[in-house]
Amino acid sequence: MFERFFQHADEDNEGSHISIDPNNIPSHIAIIMDGNGRWAKNKGLPRVAGHREGMKVINKIVKKANTLSVQYLTLYAFSTENWKRPKTEVDFLMRLPQQFLSKELPALKENNVRVRVMGDESVLPEYTRRAVEQAVLETKENTGLVLNFALNYGSRHELVRMVKDISEDVKNEQLSVNNIDEELISNKLLTCDLPDPDLLIRTSGEMRLSNFMLWQLAYSEFWFTNVLWPDFTDKDLEEAVKTYQQRKRRYGGV
Ligand code: FPP
Repeated sequence: MFERFFQHADEDNEGSHISIDPNNIPSHIAIIMDGNGRWAKNKGLPRVAGHREGMKVINKIVKKANTLSVQYLTLYAFSTENWKRPKTEVDFLMRLPQQFLSKELPALKENNVRVRVMGDESVLPEYTRRAVEQAVLETKENTGLVLNFALNYGSRHELVRMVKDISEDVKNEQLSVNNIDEELISNKLLTCDLPDPDLLIRTSGEMRLSNFMLWQLAYSEFWFTNVLWPDFTDKDLEEAVKTYQQRKRRYGGV
């Protein structure tokens, strides 16, 4: 118990004095980019200004993740629940992928980044879908960091789809109930070609999952920070990775 207490006390220092162990880099980092609205409010700006600033941070974090040799970076850009926001804000958010990619796609390609998307694309505006599809297509041969945008993503929606998919296979006698296992379920999710995240980061002090990767985060390490997403820097990413490296992952063992 004392060991656990001190382990957490150490985390409060966030290990800024130690350096990153290049042999223990989380392969997959997932980020809930939260706090854009509050960032803007604190500055007396409209909420969308926070989203614009938040978009600029993505570029820096992708670069840093690449330098650290992270292999997969998943960013929660728009949830299935975000449609409840005012139309002007939703419209603004839907324009961001296009804005981001028209500016950053050449650099992403140069840095061997592969863009990937997960979520229900069918209801996205044409210009949003076209922008991401073009980025996916133009980077599909790249072998470096996989940049996975969760766009109109909701974990429960993903799970419902998976259950329906498996049920169909059973109904059509393509699958026996006895063969349903964890691996099969993982392979039926939108992350079928990605490993589960090793590290989940959420900014802005909120400590909840908000319908994000509920199955995939079963054994991930969580790191929360009060920093609002538009203020998040590569130093913060380093802190998260250093803290991750101090954790002992036991996967239910001892
Ligand atoms: C949550 O903050 C943030 C979002 C719902 C949107 C996140 C999107 C970006 C950072 C840019 C996406 C860019 C691309 C290229 C896809 P919030 O608005 O809920 O903040 P609040 O809790 O302070 O109100």
